[in-house]
Amino acid sequence: MFVAIDGPAGAGKSTVARATACELGFTYLDSGAMYRCVALRSLWEPHRELAELAREARIELSGTPSGEPGRVLLDGRDVSEEVRTSAVSEAASVVAADPAVREALVAKQRELIAEGDWVAEGRDIGTVVAPDAELKVFLTADPRERARRRAAELGADVGTVLAEQTMRDERDSAREHSPLETASDAVTLDTSGLSVEEVVARIVELVRAQ
Ligand code: C5P
Repeated sequence: MFVAIDGPAGAGKSTVARATACELGFTYLDSGAMYRCVALRSLWEPHRELAELAREARIELSGTPSGEPGRVLLDGRDVSEEVRTSAVSEAASVVAADPAVREALVAKQRELIAEGDWVAEGRDIGTVVAPDAELKVFLTADPRERARRRAAELGADVGTVLAEQTMRDERDSAREHSPLETASDAVTLDTSGLSVEEVVARIVELVRAQ
C-alpha cells in the first residue's frame, strides 16, 4: 500500500505523514530531505554540477517507528539540523527546479519504495514518483496559517517566514519540471483550523476505505 502526501511548505505534511505512517505501521519517506541534502552539498561545493552532486549524494533517512522526526545522514554525516535552516530551504527549492537533479532523486526514491508499505510526502509524489499510489492526498492550508506554524517551529518572525514561503511556493509551483500541483485523483484536505490528530484520523479513514 502506498500513500502519497503532497502540498506546499507548512501545510503540515511532515508531521501528518509521520504520524500517519506510525499509526498504520508503514514506513515514512521525507522526499524533501533529499532535495535539502543536495542543496546542502551545493552550498559546500558551489562550483560542482548539481546533477553530479545529486547522483553522488549518499542519503540515508532513518526510520521513525515512534513517529518522531528521523535523522538525515548525508555521506555518513548527520545533517538533520543543518538541512532545516532557512538558507537550505531556499537553496532546496532552487536545486529542485533542475530536471537532472529531479531525475536522480526520483530514481533514488523509486528504489527505496519498491517494496513495503509507505507514506511518502513531497511535491510530486502522487504526480511523478508514484502515480499508481492507492491513496493520494493534497494537503493545503491558508498561507498565513502555514507561515504561523513554521515560524512557531523555527522560533522565527511570522512576516519573514511568510515572505520566504511565498517565494518558495511560487518557485515550486511555477517550475517547468514536476511543479507542485494536485494530482487529478488526489483528495484535497485543507488543514487550516484542524489539529494534527484530526487530519491523521481522516487520512487513516481514507486508507481503511481502500
Ligand atoms: O518538503 P520540504 O520543505 O522539506 O522541501 C524542500 C524543497 O524541496 C521544496 O521547497 C521543494 O522545492 C523541494 N521538493 C520538491 N519535490 C519533492 C520534495 C521537495 O521539489 N518531492
